[in-house]
Amino acid sequence: MNLTKGQLKSKDGIDLYSRKDFDGMHAAGRVAAGILDEIVTSVFPGQTTGKIDAIIEELISDKNVVSGTIGYRGYQHASCISVNHVVCHGIPSDKILKEGDILNIDVTVIKDGWYGDTSRMYVAGQPSRKAERLIQVTHDALFKGIEAVKPGKTFGDIGHAIQTYVEESRMSVVRDFCGHGLGRVFHSPPNVLHYGREGTGPRIEEGMFFTIEPMVNLGRPETKVLSDEWTAVTRDKSLSAQFEHAIGVTKDGAEIFTLSPENKFHPTYV
Ligand code: MF3
Ligand code: CO
Ligand code: CO
Repeated sequence: MNLTKGQLKSKDGIDLYSRKDFDGMHAAGRVAAGILDEIVTSVFPGQTTGKIDAIIEELISDKNVVSGTIGYRGYQHASCISVNHVVCHGIPSDKILKEGDILNIDVTVIKDGWYGDTSRMYVAGQPSRKAERLIQVTHDALFKGIEAVKPGKTFGDIGHAIQTYVEESRMSVVRDFCGHGLGRVFHSPPNVLHYGREGTGPRIEEGMFFTIEPMVNLGRPETKVLSDEWTAVTRDKSLSAQFEHAIGVTKDGAEIFTLSPENKFHPTYV
């Protein structure tokens, strides 16, 4: 550990935070998760993703926090909404949701300088059996990753836990996008890969803050970004799902900053 510009860092250059900083992250994470709770009833067949985003923008302003995504690298919306074969960074639009669509909604807020970043899956109406299974496996894969977080273990251990579980379930892990450090900035080191080998990558230390946000495809893992330069889709058009939590490393595990206040993180039908 050494001190750089007043911020403690791990030997790999990853920021380490104090107990007081955990409180700031819990507060920011709770606001982001609370917004995801509040929009559950706004997702239904016939609704547009643009309207959902407008509701999110309103909730952000009601809660006196700031959107982390509006103005971020030119992005202009308060959420990313990724429907069906969209892997991530779907742009809210006048696209109408139809019965059985599955979607990830990803919200980032800044509260008192701290970033709260979380996403989860929603369904318009009733999902197909295979969509339901994809959502379940992706949700459980995130928690396999969180369970692998422990000081002394490595980031490769997290990726390995996720990849092993997903591939045993005959699905694939997206390689082209990863989780990230966050705190008083949106995206900082390390890249948190959702695949990998045990014992590889930076060592996990108490006081690190980062997201785990696995994207899982029913088909092949390859993605491509559309000409809007944001929307990432599966190359084979197969369905994709994602869940994201922001966490802080404790003495013997992890604290989740983005727990759902109303226990709505998991879509209720499964
Ligand atoms: N919230 C996304 C993440 O999990 C990042 C979205 S950046 C945006 O890291 F500009 F597309 F909104
Ligand atoms: Co994130
Ligand atoms: Co996010």
